[in-house]
Amino acid sequence: MWYFFCKFAHFLRKSGEYKPINSMKEYNLTTKMRSCRWDELDEEQRALVTVAKEQTKNSYCPYSHFHVGAAAALANGEIIRGSNQENAAYPSGLCAERTALFAAGAQYPDVPVRKLAIACFTGGHFTKEPGSPCGACRQVMVETEHRYDGKMEVLLYGEDETFVFESAADLLPLIFVKENLKG
Ligand code: THU
Repeated sequence: MWYFFCKFAHFLRKSGEYKPINSMKEYNLTTKMRSCRWDELDEEQRALVTVAKEQTKNSYCPYSHFHVGAAAALANGEIIRGSNQENAAYPSGLCAERTALFAAGAQYPDVPVRKLAIACFTGGHFTKEPGSPCGACRQVMVETEHRYDGKMEVLLYGEDETFVFESAADLLPLIFVKENLKG
């Protein structure tokens, strides 16, 4: 009798250990951004967004007809321009953000990128809502920030509002950077 009681107690203890609801932790990840009207941006931000808007004209997008312009402001005052460049072999193309950031790295490898502005133009007008960078571009933005050990502000232009992120890391929770490679 005692034997069966012990077995049953053991079973209860064991089954309790495996209740996943008791061991699972839930996190709510939050991020920070500001939505600004045009007149709420400062002069430097407006100037950079204006370059990104102009840059949509240099987009090569015969497949998507979605023109994206980017402008990267460097710590030395230079502005590096980018636009999306598509290709008949679709994955060979590149987004505007990465075109600008890689060009900045190629031309000024030692100069930090302090701000990046993006604008999208399609169907004859700029998008009302701010353009949202793809995951690969967010990853490259975060690497740029880490590379130069300082925040890079990101401005996503839309006709109705512009989103301002103080740091590229705010666009990508659970970032993967070179420290993660150490395991
Ligand atoms: N594209 C960008 O250049 N940046 C973004 O943030 C999103 C998408 C481009 C890639 C492609 O040429 C076109 O927009 C449609 O996806």
